[in-house]
Amino acid sequence: LDTRTFIKYLPKAELHLHIEGTLEPELQLKLAKRNHIQLKQSTVEEIKQTYHYHDLPSFLEVYYSALSVLQTEQDFYDLAFSYLTKAAQNNIRHAEIFFDPQAHTSRGIPFKTIVNGLYRAIVDARALNIDAGLIMCFLRDYSKESARKTLKEAINYKDKILGVGLDSDEHNNPPLKFVRQFEDAAAVGFHLTTHCDLDQKNSIEHIRQALELMDVERLDHGTNIVEDPDLVQLAAHRKIGITSCPHSNSLGNPVMKGKEVIELLNKGVKVSINSDDPAYFGGYINDSYNAIAQKFHLTKAQIIQLAKNSFETSWISQQAKTLYL
Ligand code: ADE
Ligand code: ZN
Repeated sequence: LDTRTFIKYLPKAELHLHIEGTLEPELQLKLAKRNHIQLKQSTVEEIKQTYHYHDLPSFLEVYYSALSVLQTEQDFYDLAFSYLTKAAQNNIRHAEIFFDPQAHTSRGIPFKTIVNGLYRAIVDARALNIDAGLIMCFLRDYSKESARKTLKEAINYKDKILGVGLDSDEHNNPPLKFVRQFEDAAAVGFHLTTHCDLDQKNSIEHIRQALELMDVERLDHGTNIVEDPDLVQLAAHRKIGITSCPHSNSLGNPVMKGKEVIELLNKGVKVSINSDDPAYFGGYINDSYNAIAQKFHLTKAQIIQLAKNSFETSWISQQAKTLYL
């Protein structure tokens, strides 16, 4: 088997994927029409022309502004079902999907509309041989008070949510800002993860807080950890999942952080490959595996290890893990 075909048929778990980041221009236009929303752009090409980012905030601006078309439970269902269909085609067998409730509740959309729509798609997608769960992210550039209220709502839907994470603009918004909300989330049984390493200057400090003070199980991105050998050792020892996203890490150049991924893989750290915001960065999961595999001439054993890491650091039951490990 050539590497591309091998990757295509390899069972994989996706652990770092923002459902809002799967909103393809075609669906955006369809939902705008359905909900009578006037967009500035009227074709797929015009929308794609807005996909130019030079840093995280400039990406987030495009990402948040597209969300106005998501209004009803059916809209959230369609968004998630369309991702899950693509994920199944990529032979993803398990997906842990981030969603950003505050990006919708701040526009007047009720929490239940979001969760019920996403969750119904997850249930229906089981017929495609893919199993999935939801991770609620707090927007880290919003206040602690807003996070507290959001967590309170999430607790009412505990059976539909696996864990909590932190995303959005990391600059001046360290993990520790949400230490109380993470403690409260852990106390009711939510798993914990956080985006770390998109703040160039403070990434090591943020990774340290997340691992030493907040007991997260995974770091999203997080490959900058290679700069600190003690933290690498801690991550290896605790089997921390590092969910690297080759396409978005470098704003579309899929191999920029590849060296770190290989270094972590060689050191036995549980690093995995994921697609983050595939509608915006031009690659679903197989594209991301292919980019890394080709650039670094990965062996099949190394590719298998990346996929095994994705299942091992997922939040499926120990019993289900034995199916894949
Ligand atoms: N929200 C959606 N995608 C994100 C990313 N890549 N980084 C931080 N926040 C995000
Ligand atoms: Zn992300």
